[in-house]
Amino acid sequence: MAFKNTITPEIEKLTELCSDNSQIDLSLYGKYDVKRGLRDINGNGVLAGLTDISEINSFKNVDGVKTPCEGKLYYRGIDVEDLTKGFLSEKRMGFEEITYLLLFGSLPTPAQLADFQELLRSQQSLPKNFVRDVVMKAPSSDMMNTLSRSVLTLYSYDPMADDISLPNVMRQCLNLIAVFPMLSVYGYQAYNHYIKGKSLYIHNPDKKLSTAENILRMLRPDKKYTQFEATILDLALVLHMEHGGGNNSTFTTHVVTSSGTDTYSTIAAALGSLKGPKHGGANIKVVNMFADMKKHVHDWEDEEEVTEYLKALLHKEAFDKRGLIYGMGHAVYSISDPRANIFKTFVEQLAKEKGREKDYKLYSLVEKLAPRVIAEERHIYKGVSANVDFYSGFVYSMLDLPTELFTPMFATARIVGWSAHRMEELINTDKIIRPAYMAVKEREEYISLNER
Ligand SMILES: CC(C)(COP(=O)(O)OP(=O)(O)OC[C@H]1O[C@@H](n2cnc3c(N)ncnc32)[C@H](O)[C@@H]1OP(=O)(O)O)[C@@H](O)C(=O)NCCC(=O)NCCS
Repeated sequence: MAFKNTITPEIEKLTELCSDNSQIDLSLYGKYDVKRGLRDINGNGVLAGLTDISEINSFKNVDGVKTPCEGKLYYRGIDVEDLTKGFLSEKRMGFEEITYLLLFGSLPTPAQLADFQELLRSQQSLPKNFVRDVVMKAPSSDMMNTLSRSVLTLYSYDPMADDISLPNVMRQCLNLIAVFPMLSVYGYQAYNHYIKGKSLYIHNPDKKLSTAENILRMLRPDKKYTQFEATILDLALVLHMEHGGGNNSTFTTHVVTSSGTDTYSTIAAALGSLKGPKHGGANIKVVNMFADMKKHVHDWEDEEEVTEYLKALLHKEAFDKRGLIYGMGHAVYSISDPRANIFKTFVEQLAKEKGREKDYKLYSLVEKLAPRVIAEERHIYKGVSANVDFYSGFVYSMLDLPTELFTPMFATARIVGWSAHRMEELINTDKIIRPAYMAVKEREEYISLNER
């Protein structure tokens, strides 16, 4: 029987009924002091927990007044800018080292790092025939769904899948961190072959290489990449690894972990959250939005013409008509997102190497104009600036990463943050997360079927 994928008039009518009967008067949120999106009217998140893993700063106290400032991000108390400078200046890859920091709470010594890299390598294998029996079967056009399916299926191969004792969860997390690059890239290769009709490449990871190098190696038919490309991808991974407990997918991790469920179910839920275009899916939207912009704006250096396009975006007249300029704004950051700033210093160099200077100029122009345009049209109390996804999609496209893999790359990095938060939740909070919803529907009498 064929899969029923048509929206019939009957379904449309029922949806209208659902929508008509599900309208909530927005003024009630104010009346009952309900924090929409778990944020107060100033955009500050409701305090839902405590964490040691990372900290985001976007305000400072000036004479007792909370004032927006340049964004800062700390992993385990250390400024991410210092962390990235550290491994970049010493010319080593950072992903594995920062994974150690986020999971275990302190920077590794050289010996600890070497042991940890070895441990990750030993975890870097999938169950026998998993690629053939799971990844290659029924490929989907969305790699995030493919990734979730692989994660959920790994449950069946794990004899201790439901054991949530700390060492077992740590083992599962380390395994997932180690295999996410393979699951993502192989999922893409299956799609590229079976759905797009291209040649199929399944390259094994090279145990001597870092995560970033292996991603490029497994992805490219000739397995070749430059050191600069690997360095940029490694930096992108580090900048996407962790972002506090309140971001949508990490909060999902806390919520689902608190119910006592298994690691695979938890990570699949986090993946579902990350896929959303307001969260990790934004990097795909940014690239597609720029492609649309390039089609509709004739002179990419003309500030007025670009401004008009940006206004059309906000007026829901351009691109996906959602009223958003993707890659701009952040729930917490205001004046700047430090991750975007760190990234940007490398983007120009990469754009030069790849002959994409014209694109880079357009990105820079949008970065300059969009905050002004948004400020003119929306209620801004804290400022809007380019977020990490503004440049990440552009960088990935210059690394020849297919669009389909943009969000899985985010997931390959953020699985580290999710793992650290899952451990933190299990170690500290033996309490199911269960907030309240106020029911605002008036009581109604039951009417028997033949009297309706
Ligand atoms: C991330 C995001 C959801 C945060 O939204 P937020 O928490 O409401 O942010 P703010 O409180 O600073 O927003 C203030 C106002 O500016 C609007 N705004 C913020 N960023 C915007 C954007 N990129 N495009 C259009 N409007 C935006 C908000 O909708 C809000 O308007 P409103 O008061 O009329 O509802 C939002 O900036 C967004 O959707 N950005 C585009 C998607 C994106 O790049 N996501 C990746 C985040 S890393």
